[in-house]
Order: sequence, then structure tokens, then C-alpha cells
Amino acid sequence: MGRFHRLGETDRAPVRIEIDGASVLALAGDTLQVAILTHAGSLRRNEFDGGPRAGFCLMAACQDCLVWTVTGEQLRGCSTEVEQGMRIVTRGPAWQIEP
Ligand code: FES
Repeated sequence: MGRFHRLGETDRAPVRIEIDGASVLALAGDTLQVAILTHAGSLRRNEFDGGPRAGFCLMAACQDCLVWTVTGEQLRGCSTEVEQGMRIVTRGPAWQIEP
């Protein structure tokens, strides 16, 4: 169950992305943060203690929402819009954290 629940604007165009290997349907205009938190309870794991994080400021200032492409590009979840075919991982390539 996701942390976010979509209440409106459900008629936007669907955008399929991949999150940690799972195919997920987002909507055009969603940020990665919205897309991920609509399907999961947390956005990523904290790099220091492995705790679940969901973002903090929602305005591209705190970097609590960092996620990565499968090729290692770092993205801010709160300010990056979904694009068809994006392949996202929620754990950084430099510091993999065991669950
Ligand atoms: S939630 Fe703070 S930078 Fe994205």
C-alpha cells in the first residue's frame, strides 16, 4: 500500500516506469516522489542507518528524496517529472544498504 493516495486528476496520460525492477504506472506530470509513494510506503532508505525516508521539504532543497537511474544518475524525486520508460532504483549505487 502506498503512502500517497491519488484523490483527483486521475485522467492524465499514463506513464509506465520501473522502480527497483517493478513496472509501475504513474501519470503524466507526476514527480518521481509522487509516483514512488503512490506505490510504496517509503521513497528510499537513509544512507546512514537504512531507515525509510519519504522526502522532507518537497521543494528541491533538502535532498532527502534522492533516487537514481539504473545507470547511476542521481535525481531529486520531488523535482523530477516521470518520463516514459524511466528505470529508477531507490538505493544509491555507492552505498548499498542491506535491509
Ligand atoms: S524532498 Fe527535499 S529535496 Fe526533495
